[in-house]
Amino acid sequence: MEVAYTFSFIFLVGFLFFQATSILIEDKQALIDFVNSLPHLRSLNWNEFSSPVCGHWTGITCSEDGSRVIAVRLPGIGFRGPIPPNTLSRLSSLQILSLRSNAITGPFPPDFYSLTNLSFLYLQFNKFSGPLPLNFSAWNNLTIVNLSNNEFNGSIPNSISNLTHLTALNLANNSIWGEIPDLYLPNLKQINLSNNKLTGIVPKSLEKFPGSAFIGNNISFVDSPVVSSSHQPNSKSKNVGKLSEAALLGIIVAACVLGLIGFVFLLLVWWLRKRSEDVFSGKLKKGELSPEKAISRSQDANNRLFFFEGCNYAFDLEDLLRASAEVLGKGTFGIAYKAVLEDANTVVVKRLKEVSVGKREFEQQMEVVGSVKHSNVIELRAYYYSKDEKLLVYDFYSRGSVTAMLHGNRGDDRIPLDWETRLRIAIGAARGIARIHVGKLVHGNIKSSNIFLNSQHYGCVSDLGLSTIMRPLAPPIARASGYRAPEVTDTRKSSQPSDVYSFGVLLLELLTGKSPIHTTATDEVIHLVRWVHSVVREEWTAEVFDTELLRYPNIEEEMVEMLQIALACVVRMPDQRPKMVDVARMIERVRHTDYENRPSSEAKSENSTPT
Ligand SMILES: *[C@@H]1O[C@H](CO)[C@@H](O)[C@H](O)[C@H]1NC(C)=O
Ligand SMILES: *[C@@H]1O[C@H](CO)[C@@H](O)[C@H](O)[C@H]1NC(C)=O
Ligand SMILES: *[C@@H]1O[C@H](CO)[C@@H](O)[C@H](O)[C@H]1NC(C)=O
Ligand SMILES: *[C@@H]1O[C@H](CO)[C@@H](O)[C@H](O)[C@H]1NC(C)=O
Repeated sequence: MEVAYTFSFIFLVGFLFFQATSILIEDKQALIDFVNSLPHLRSLNWNEFSSPVCGHWTGITCSEDGSRVIAVRLPGIGFRGPIPPNTLSRLSSLQILSLRSNAITGPFPPDFYSLTNLSFLYLQFNKFSGPLPLNFSAWNNLTIVNLSNNEFNGSIPNSISNLTHLTALNLANNSIWGEIPDLYLPNLKQINLSNNKLTGIVPKSLEKFPGSAFIGNNISFVDSPVVSSSHQPNSKSKNVGKLSEAALLGIIVAACVLGLIGFVFLLLVWWLRKRSEDVFSGKLKKGELSPEKAISRSQDANNRLFFFEGCNYAFDLEDLLRASAEVLGKGTFGIAYKAVLEDANTVVVKRLKEVSVGKREFEQQMEVVGSVKHSNVIELRAYYYSKDEKLLVYDFYSRGSVTAMLHGNRGDDRIPLDWETRLRIAIGAARGIARIHVGKLVHGNIKSSNIFLNSQHYGCVSDLGLSTIMRPLAPPIARASGYRAPEVTDTRKSSQPSDVYSFGVLLLELLTGKSPIHTTATDEVIHLVRWVHSVVREEWTAEVFDTELLRYPNIEEEMVEMLQIALACVVRMPDQRPKMVDVARMIERVRHTDYENRPSSEAKSENSTPT
């Protein structure tokens, strides 16, 4: 009896497993058919044979049991042309579809009607044309619909009325005409129909929404002036000359009343907008970011997350906000979070505070920063700018920063940071900064917490180019000021020579294992540069070096050589400091002499061939 049970149980499990994988194979085929027949600019890592769909393919999310694809998020991939029929429509469990910010043309795919589980649909910023889908009631579960910034025409179908879950509808910036149907959508929190060709009046059911949701049409509210930006139907002024004084007075009074109503209306719009913005940033701060809560942002936040070319991530701002986030640290310019996205990618999101420049200047600087591509510079992947939020997105480095490696866990179980690694950190960081200095760009914030290890275990630098767009920092910010060159009183005026100084301090930190500014047991504040100078002046000894390094044989000469380079970088006069390219070359030579002078350790050097 029991045996039979067990057997049938195994059989059942086996059967279910077989069924699950075979369904997933069909979903996978649908995706491959889709991507193979729609030209695109950025390549996707969708390898048909080597990597599993779930958890590996960019932009794809599977159901918990791994049997179905439930989300496809491919914003900004550079898709061109119409959606190939009978591809995506086969993903019958699909709940989230984002193809925003591509160049997709053609009509709304009629076969999407088979995606009955669809809840979130983002197709904004494409070139879809033709009428909106007629039968919205096919998608019972629709929650957010964004079809804005396309070339849709035709009228708004009545069937939208049947979408009881709908919370946000954005059809702005299309060519939709006709009257707005009375939409009884109990859960609707946001709507934007602006910049279309709609006519008539705002229906009762939508009167609670701000006038800005309807601007750029030829629509009026039942008892307030037209909210059109282009058409002004009041042409009565031509007849004024023929009117009696009483009538004129009447008109003036009426105009005043209308003006007052208009003013109150504008005030209301302003207040509502302000309120929704506050909600936006409040939620980001608290990190309570479920999809439903992200709705209020989805409209105006969409599409401003700007990705740099060559970036393989595929996520929306909504995804970012929905991701589970953990505070990594408070930096000089803001808080850094580690965000694990739904597609299992991990990124670092920096929220900048105290940005002192406007949008254009910010974007220009980000363009410059984003164009620096070098194996020793951590690439800026994306940025976001709105009035209330400025976000930067970087890759995540699991080993943490050089600060953590040097100063973290000084207890008994500490893993020492060996000389080899420190040398690679110095070489890598120097090369990275030298690359940044090729143009006029300044890093402006060199310190050990901004240095990480790249995949070849060489140093690479992060956080460049921010100091010039941030408000100046007050002088006594302890740790950061330990790196700051003496001539820098305003952090916005950092220069390439002041970067060299900061790098010199970093070298001293690597050599001594001490923080740039630290206090002794007797509460004495020690400034690393001054301390090294004083020790070196008295007697040229190994006193300065990190005791942890003393266990490695035959490295004193290299350390002394490195110390000399560091001291050259931290000289007081900016114009006497070496250029970063030369610093990089000098550091490379430290190891070079090692190759030539110490044949005995050849074996050891071989596994550390510099890249
Ligand atoms: C809508 O979503 C619920 C779960 O949220 C699901 O049970 C239901 O089947 C969905 N309806 C349709 C028509 O897909
Ligand atoms: C809403 O759905 C019902 C059937 O579920 C249908 O009879 C009705 O026509 C729909 N309303 C609109 C406006 O499409
Ligand atoms: C409509 O287009 C304008 C101009 O391109 C843009 O500023 C605005 O944000 C767009 N509206 C929406 C809701 O996307
Ligand atoms: C709707 O979009 C327009 C731009 O197209 C914008 O100016 C307006 O503030 C938006 N209104 C709402 C309520 O989102």
